[in-house]
Amino acid sequence: MSRLSILKYPDPRLHTKASPVLSVDDSIRQLVTDMADTMYAAPGIGLAATQVDVHKRVIVIDVSEDRNRLLTLINPEIIAREGTQICEEGCLSVPGIYEDVERSERVMVRALDRTGQTFELEAEELLAVCIQHEMDHLEGKVFVEYLSRLKQSRIKSKMQKLQMRQSA
Ligand code: NI
Repeated sequence: MSRLSILKYPDPRLHTKASPVLSVDDSIRQLVTDMADTMYAAPGIGLAATQVDVHKRVIVIDVSEDRNRLLTLINPEIIAREGTQICEEGCLSVPGIYEDVERSERVMVRALDRTGQTFELEAEELLAVCIQHEMDHLEGKVFVEYLSRLKQSRIKSKMQKLQMRQSA
């Protein structure tokens, strides 16, 4: 069991596009375990491998109240989407920032699980938001990039000040 360190915005490594997982082997399963530990410890409801500086298409999510329904998505693709919703989002890579983002209301996602089996999942509400947010990370996109330039630059300088204080 080990916790990984989470990249903080505006770290340029967060803008790396992740590569597909070619084979779901023990090293990927170990990554999933470590990412889940990291997400639960944070605590957060989702984490993409990009955020721990591993540029593979792996996501862990748990939106359950009891924090006991881990969802692992490897090489996820959205195969259908419907409607729109606006939800206030946060991100472990952008601590303390919560902003409204518009997303699809419902998504159908296809992915591999930790045994390498393909499955499909229909998601709505918070789970749908979380899947879309984490999939953006795999494309190198952080949720604040949906905001106005002014808001983005304010968030950027706030984060930089915070990181300077922490490293001082
Ligand atoms: Ni995030």
